[in-house]
Amino acid sequence: MLIMKLIPVVVVIFFFQVSAVQAEGDPVRGKVLAETDCADCHGDDGLGDYDRPPIAGMDPKTHIKELMNYKTGKRKDENEDMVVDDLSEQDMADVAAYYASLPPPPQKE
Ligand code: HEC
Repeated sequence: MLIMKLIPVVVVIFFFQVSAVQAEGDPVRGKVLAETDCADCHGDDGLGDYDRPPIAGMDPKTHIKELMNYKTGKRKDENEDMVVDDLSEQDMADVAAYYASLPPPPQKE
């Protein structure tokens, strides 16, 4: 039966898609990190507040780039709130993947 032959193929494709996402960052691990390291300032929803920018819905590549910019000192944060020194590249990819999964702030027109 054709269907029986196709099942393993579908399983394999599914497996590869899941591992591709992991390589870019694990949102489940990212959520744990975000809750302890980021939510105090950027909020549980990642929408920030009057003086913290929203990071929810941010493109993961941009997010990682900005985190790296703080880490290398390329981007200066006046109050030195953005302490990212102890984040590894994997940590950054994971938090970025998590925040990308949250709904972005409403667009200002
Ligand atoms: C102590 C408060 C604080 C904590 C904790 C914190 N942030 Fe921030 N974050 C800020 C502030 C304030 C800014 C704006 C700084 C500036 O002027 O560049 C900012 C900026 C950012 C930006 C740049 C946003 C943009 O629009 O370019 C990103 C991305 C970001 N934070 C991600 C994170 C992540 C991820 C974490 C957790 C690992 C985190 N922040 C933890 C206060 C915080």
